[in-house]
Amino acid sequence: MNTLALFGGTPVREKSFPSWPKPTQKLTDALLNTLHNDLWGVGSNINKEFNDAFASFQDAKYSISTSSGTSALWVALKAAGVNAGDEVIVPAYTFIATASSVLMANAVPVFVDINIETGNINPALIEDAITEKTKVILPVHIAGNPADMDAILAIGKKHGIHIIEDAAQAHGAEWDSTKVGALGLGGIFSFQTSKNMSAGEGGAIVTNDQAFAEKCFSYHNCGRVTGGDWYEHSHLGGNFRLGAFQASMLLPQLDTLPEDIILRNKNKSKLDKVLNDIEGITPQKMLEKSTNSANHLILSRYDKTAFNGIPRETFFKAMQAEGIYTYQGYAPLYRERLFITNEGEYPWLKGYNYLELKLPETERLADEESIWLRQNHLLGNVDDIMDVANAFSKVTEEMRKNPDPFLTYNT
Ligand SMILES: Cc1ncc(COP(=O)(O)O)c(C=O)c1O
Repeated sequence: MNTLALFGGTPVREKSFPSWPKPTQKLTDALLNTLHNDLWGVGSNINKEFNDAFASFQDAKYSISTSSGTSALWVALKAAGVNAGDEVIVPAYTFIATASSVLMANAVPVFVDINIETGNINPALIEDAITEKTKVILPVHIAGNPADMDAILAIGKKHGIHIIEDAAQAHGAEWDSTKVGALGLGGIFSFQTSKNMSAGEGGAIVTNDQAFAEKCFSYHNCGRVTGGDWYEHSHLGGNFRLGAFQASMLLPQLDTLPEDIILRNKNKSKLDKVLNDIEGITPQKMLEKSTNSANHLILSRYDKTAFNGIPRETFFKAMQAEGIYTYQGYAPLYRERLFITNEGEYPWLKGYNYLELKLPETERLADEESIWLRQNHLLGNVDDIMDVANAFSKVTEEMRKNPDPFLTYNT
């Protein structure tokens, strides 16, 4: 019998998975080149080169590189005209920065439920959340899987509301064969250490709109004016610029990212083939027009009723014992203390009671069903990805056939 590692058997996998990010010789050379031959910060050639290349890579006209995805969000919201007391519609299932950047812009995050199959904001619920204060809809391409941009753009157009994509996890992802980011007014990316393009920290805003690009430039660069004097400040901005060393690390990654995307896609479809055959495990759905996912995370769902009621936590423990680290990921954002206990600090939230919110699909996904795997599991060869698939099969089969030891297992 193939005893589970949780109960003393041999784990499916004892080796680690490919590490991420990858410190290649090209990055070392690029860093040294900047060290010796370029400015290290503002005005560097490499930053301009990176912005041009990144914009073109994401099918956009302009890119404004920033110090992080969070600062990119703040800059983009301000440049889109978000003012004190305005509302910004965000999905409730995302990283904190999607909503906290709204607060940082003195505005109000309005949480909308997701579609549990895609993990992305449910467009059918957006119109009910629109008020006369709504300035921006901020969809997130969660795990790198594009949100339903046709529906969201149509709502934006109908109501005269800007769409800004949070594409922090979606480098190279495509909606209807166009790269995400500049499908609406603009979009943001993150180059934080775990991301599919990484400089340790960093971010960017992309857009096709020149006036918006110029405002982003100003907000991210101390309120300076494009083509203006060094000490001329038109907006309340800050120093949210990307450093030249980070830009020099990012530029060569635009050459390797397409191959990485192909590899992630190939391994993801191998994994999905196995997961789709396991009753009670459902991989994240891609919409027909999501012509490419960045696969930044591998998201799937766990239905405990298919596994004799065994809690998801016990499944995670059993997977971990097999050498595959899975975890639950985000909690519903509106439950985070910062949105509910700081009325004194954010007077513009008066009258918004996040404690009363209950968004059923977000809660079902976060509290009961989500299974996350990190993207580096997709960066190996066929044996590596089959180890992941085999661990899912081994654990779930045993949970179905022989539930008692799981049900009495003390996590
Ligand atoms: C969906 C999403 N939005 C925004 C951010 C913020 O990016 P950063 O960490 O670079 O500030 C992240 C990064 O983790 C993210 O995943």
